[in-house]
Amino acid sequence: MSRRPSRRKAGFGCQRDTPEYLQLEHHHHDPYRVSRASQTVTLPRLIWFLFVLVALQGRFALASSSLNHHPRDVVLPLRVTNNCKDTIWPAILTQNGIGPSVSGFALAPGDSNPQTVSGDWRGRVWARTNCSFPVSGAGPASGQGGAACTTGDCGMFMECQGAGQAPATLAEFTMSSDTYQTFYDISLVDGYNLPVGIIALVEETGNSTLADIPPNLTNPVCIGTSSLLASIGRSSDVDFGTNATFPLPLEQSATPAFVQDWCPWPLQLAPPQKPGDGVYPYPDDNIQRPIFNPCLSACAKWNKAKYCCTGNHNTPATCSPSLYSTQAKKVCPDAYSYAYDDQTSTFIIPQGSGFEVVFCPTGRSSNILAVFGDQLRQLAQTGHVTRDIVGLAQNVTYIREKSGARNGSRPSLVWVASVVFLVWTLLGQSGVVL
Ligand SMILES: *[C@@H]1O[C@H](CO)[C@@H](O)[C@H](O)[C@H]1NC(C)=O
Ligand SMILES: *[C@@H]1O[C@H](CO)[C@@H](O)[C@H](O)[C@H]1NC(C)=O
Ligand SMILES: *[C@@H]1O[C@H](CO)[C@@H](O)[C@H](O)[C@H]1NC(C)=O
Ligand SMILES: *[C@@H]1O[C@H](CO)[C@@H](O)[C@H](O)[C@H]1NC(C)=O
Ligand SMILES: *[C@@H]1O[C@H](CO)[C@@H](O)[C@H](O)[C@H]1NC(C)=O
Ligand SMILES: *[C@@H]1O[C@H](CO)[C@@H](O)[C@H](O)[C@H]1NC(C)=O
Repeated sequence: MSRRPSRRKAGFGCQRDTPEYLQLEHHHHDPYRVSRASQTVTLPRLIWFLFVLVALQGRFALASSSLNHHPRDVVLPLRVTNNCKDTIWPAILTQNGIGPSVSGFALAPGDSNPQTVSGDWRGRVWARTNCSFPVSGAGPASGQGGAACTTGDCGMFMECQGAGQAPATLAEFTMSSDTYQTFYDISLVDGYNLPVGIIALVEETGNSTLADIPPNLTNPVCIGTSSLLASIGRSSDVDFGTNATFPLPLEQSATPAFVQDWCPWPLQLAPPQKPGDGVYPYPDDNIQRPIFNPCLSACAKWNKAKYCCTGNHNTPATCSPSLYSTQAKKVCPDAYSYAYDDQTSTFIIPQGSGFEVVFCPTGRSSNILAVFGDQLRQLAQTGHVTRDIVGLAQNVTYIREKSGARNGSRPSLVWVASVVFLVWTLLGQSGVVL
């Protein structure tokens, strides 16, 4: 699997490609695997052993055949849904595996486009806005630049040949890895154009290991557009497979005013017209911004090493989040905001699931990685989901308290990410035992 495709040369150049941090971590310390080796027989191991035994005997033809299949032969759904009130032009870039039959298309409000990808697919999905193609499907007249869309444009082609132009909110996927896991994230590293949510279609796999993974842990949402923001206090988002019993942990401090103005003024793609004599009052708090207000990341706008984490700044220790990244993280805590916060924004589940990417979900941004940190730690320590965890996951009071207290003491997110990694390794290998 090529980890570094030549994406940097055109557009979307601000982030590293794969959560390499996580892959390196796996190769380097892999502490769980070591401790497993020294364990005595536990219930999960026994169940796994029996499962393998049965599979080997060919009792589950389906099970054994899909265990033997290369991920390239597996077909996974990749649905793209438009909840926006305007037409959008989703674009799909394939970096590994077999991509969908089209790499760009128009999608009317309320429509879903059911594409499929191979089980080893790696790529990204974003939405182009305000497009007007020269001739349907055609690119620019020879030698001319330009853009057919206000955001996300890829060389004026309806079908994208490569990456698009910043800013665009991205949904990124690595469907399979050598650890049999799927990595995915919402990325604002190259900027933000529209709200995005990702739904892991775990139930559609028909694989009970995956179907047991709760929607409140797998479905991140990022809403940085105030008109689509639900009021503070809302605790579940039905569009994302959760309900009052199993609420999705949501970010609970961003007000509509904050979400309207989160983008640092100079990073707005099209700042509002200067009032009167052309002199801004500074700060610019009183100038009304448009509802659709695409925001470039500091890297996309200025292309400086310190913002793009390149050159002398190419390590987590030497690349700090910019104002853009900290603002983005406040609006979308589960999203990736600069090249080195993949540890606080990468979701990892056992491989085999397809996904739905929803543009313009309404509700509030999710805050999954911060809220369930303690439960994930407990999961990692005990090796199974306890009744206490299930109780807490259903405790709306607890989830509200934790979601509201974002600036209180939080577990180290680097640490939480390591735990998430371990937990999914565990779930992937032993099955969920309730
Ligand atoms: C179900 O998913 C798990 C996790 O990815 C995988 O290990 C297992 O092989 C899958 N089972 C079947 C029957 O495909
Ligand atoms: C551009 O697209 C966005 C998102 O679909 C929409 O909200 C906005 O009204 C469009 N702007 C124009 C000028 O058409
Ligand atoms: C809430 O969601 C869970 C998990 O998806 C489901 O089992 C349960 O039936 C739902 N409850 C209601 C009241 O819809
Ligand atoms: C999330 O919801 C599921 C049911 O869909 C539940 O079993 C689970 O315990 C909940 N939360 C966590 C942290 O697992
Ligand atoms: C729910 O959580 C709150 C706050 O953490 C706690 O006080 C309460 O006892 C919990 N309720 C249940 C039923 O566990
Ligand atoms: C969080 O920040 C808000 C405003 O910035 C402040 O009023 C509140 O007390 C803080 N909460 C905690 C738990 O620090």
